[in-house]
Amino acid sequence: ALAAAAERVAAEFEYPKEDVIRGVEHFIKQMDEGLSKQGATLSQIPTYVTAVPNGTEKGLYMAVDLGGTNFRVCSIQLHGNSTFSLTQSKVKIPQELMVAKTSHELFAFLAKQIELFLKTHHGEHYTSHVERRKSYIGGGVQNTEVFQLGFTFSFPVQQSGINKGTLIRWTKGFDIHETIGKDVCALLQKELDALNLPVRVAALVNDTVGTLMARSYTSPGKTGTLLGAIFGTGTNGAYVEKLERVTKLQKMGKDAGDVDSSTGEMIVNTEWGSFDNEMKVLPDTPYDNALDKESNNPGIQMFEKRVSGMFLGEILRRALVTLIKDPAVPLFSDEHSNQNDMHSTTNIHDNSNLYKQWGLDTSFLSITSGDNSGGLKITRQTLDSEYGVSAASAEDAEAVRLIASAVGKRAARLSAVAIAAIIIATGKLDRPTDIATTNNATLEVNEDDVVDVGVDGSLVEFYPNFEEYIREALREVPQIGVQGERKIRIGIAKDGSGVGAALIALVADKATRGSS
Ligand code: BG6
Ligand code: GLC
Repeated sequence: ALAAAAERVAAEFEYPKEDVIRGVEHFIKQMDEGLSKQGATLSQIPTYVTAVPNGTEKGLYMAVDLGGTNFRVCSIQLHGNSTFSLTQSKVKIPQELMVAKTSHELFAFLAKQIELFLKTHHGEHYTSHVERRKSYIGGGVQNTEVFQLGFTFSFPVQQSGINKGTLIRWTKGFDIHETIGKDVCALLQKELDALNLPVRVAALVNDTVGTLMARSYTSPGKTGTLLGAIFGTGTNGAYVEKLERVTKLQKMGKDAGDVDSSTGEMIVNTEWGSFDNEMKVLPDTPYDNALDKESNNPGIQMFEKRVSGMFLGEILRRALVTLIKDPAVPLFSDEHSNQNDMHSTTNIHDNSNLYKQWGLDTSFLSITSGDNSGGLKITRQTLDSEYGVSAASAEDAEAVRLIASAVGKRAARLSAVAIAAIIIATGKLDRPTDIATTNNATLEVNEDDVVDVGVDGSLVEFYPNFEEYIREALREVPQIGVQGERKIRIGIAKDGSGVGAALIALVADKATRGSS
């Protein structure tokens, strides 16, 4: 009975070819809407970044990164030959700061981490600056030893310049009401100044934009990188769009004047986590539905809630609890044949994390989906040590793995919808040279035809076969097919957004110097 029930639940997560195709069509439609007006479901935020790097950029920069699993502070030495050296420290953001009353609590914490990093890794620089600054205070002397910092802030921000932007909404469990509508660069700069730190917030960067920049720097291909995407705690993508297609820029008035239009392109941050909030084409199960209703932002980030690491564990947890509580399906019980006696023989502790909202970590999906140990020993051990399930049977573990894999696979297929839509909408597979390659299936992909995608995040990095599942779905989309899928190069830009932020800080720094 357990195996059959598990199969039934797993089947609820199937996301077939027809749905992928319908999803892609709808995604392209919402992309267009987002480019033409503000306040659309897909935010399609203009980033004011109009060029991607080519690997020759040089210099020492700082970057901080808020919005993934960890808050990261780094300094990056760009060597100018497509390589860089990175020094970094990571810290988890305390849960209470994610939902603090005021922005000050969070941003002061960030500034404190930056101070610590400077003292530890750039001691000389730090002391000399602070000393000099003390003696110059009030003198209006320009200090040349200021670190230019790229601020990777991975939330939806209405950008109005390279280091200016107001928070539209929090995502991924953050919820500090007071920050909404505020300029997040100014908030950080204020706390840095309060600590007298030699740091200037020079650029504001979404992690997807950083990933795209980093990928372009480290693997400058003939055709450039089209898309930077994150599949981690959250999910989102930024891509290179034709400037003339960002028609809402004109409607945005004065900002349009600030655009450097020489390349004819601009990086657009899609904020695809909110794709189809209206639920016209996204799959829905009772578990998805309950997760959303009980989240702190119901009705928002509906795509992200089905795709990204913050949510997949919770979807699985809800599906498992349904089976645990179903008297006909004794998951985690010894008395598989005796339904009436189920409660007295249960192997799951009342206090199990499986009974707590957000209690199941998404890393568990990766562990169990990739478990090759005999009798799923690793899955059973993890259930025991982390989730209060003593003596799970091999049958229990098999059921858990089946459902976990179904949740993970659906996430990957949904990810393919976003990637496919962007590749199709930008016409990147329509180059004339395609004709030559489509005639011969065994032919090597021509470098001129490669469509490059940079990715980062714990899901794509650790979930077994995530990329393979994405590719499978890409092949099912008629405009891509087997031939098109082979031209798509997907590469990890690990911790890329730090480097990307440094690169944007560099560009911003040059522009400031140039104009002063
Ligand atoms: C990191 C990037 O490597 O990946 C971050 O530097 C990004 O900017 C993160 O947010 C996403 O991964 P995760 O799994 O930490 O959310
Ligand atoms: C969320 C944020 C977005 C970010 C993504 C990945 O969707 O809104 O800005 O890029 O997570 O971290």
